[in-house]
Amino acid sequence: MEKIKLIICKTKEEIDAIAANIIAEVLKENSKPVLGLATGKSPLGIYENLIKKYQAKEISFKTTTTFNLDEYLGIKKDDHKNSYDYYMNENLFSKIDIDLKNVYFPPINLGDHPEIDFKKFEDKIAEVGPIQLQLLGLGTNGHIGFNEPASPLNSRTRIVDLTPSTIASNSIYFKSKEDVPTKAVSMGLNTILDSKKVLLVAFGKEKAEALKTFFALKQFNESLPMSALWNHDDVYIMIDELAASTLDQHSITKHLIK
Ligand code: F6R
Repeated sequence: MEKIKLIICKTKEEIDAIAANIIAEVLKENSKPVLGLATGKSPLGIYENLIKKYQAKEISFKTTTTFNLDEYLGIKKDDHKNSYDYYMNENLFSKIDIDLKNVYFPPINLGDHPEIDFKKFEDKIAEVGPIQLQLLGLGTNGHIGFNEPASPLNSRTRIVDLTPSTIASNSIYFKSKEDVPTKAVSMGLNTILDSKKVLLVAFGKEKAEALKTFFALKQFNESLPMSALWNHDDVYIMIDELAASTLDQHSITKHLIK
């Protein structure tokens, strides 16, 4: 089987449905499913589909454990609505039967030795994991999680500095530019690669350049964090036609599942 399974659909809605079906399969096949989750615009439709499946009693999250990819560091108290913890509750957790005891975020209330806090998070993944399916969005600069360009392949959960382009993309959610966090805690590329299956979704022409570079590179290069996925054996990349618009058709046909 191809390492990278590329699925291009006309619309985002088609991808939302297919991605939710793949996640639902993981829930049905495992008595104690472990999911890695993402925030941002891209997964919202997938979460809506999962909620519908839960309401239709097709799936349950009762025994599911989740680990989110990242969380902002230093978010202001009155900006709590922009935290990823809040996002996940609003868009998924409060609408399904998950036990919140089984929900994990990278730690942001750090002690004197943050590396101990990060290790605890990683140890928890190792204890209940591996993550059976890691959902990813894609930054316009090719980031996955908040692993920005120049992130090493062996990176694990740690504090990261967000790049000006990521800060600018994130600023639409904040009252003013000054309120946008400049740091986050993110799973590392290596943490992501430990998961059994990866499902990356990307929509719109602003993601096209990163995808074009990804398929041209065909191996890991620090300039494009997403390229770490060339080191994984089971990756789905699901994109709409706009995101696929600059892909060289010849170089992708062998990966293509229409
Ligand atoms: C979010 C995350 C980020 C986003 C990416 C794309 O948890 O890890 O990598 O997936 O920035 O964001 P959207 O989907 O808003 O375009």
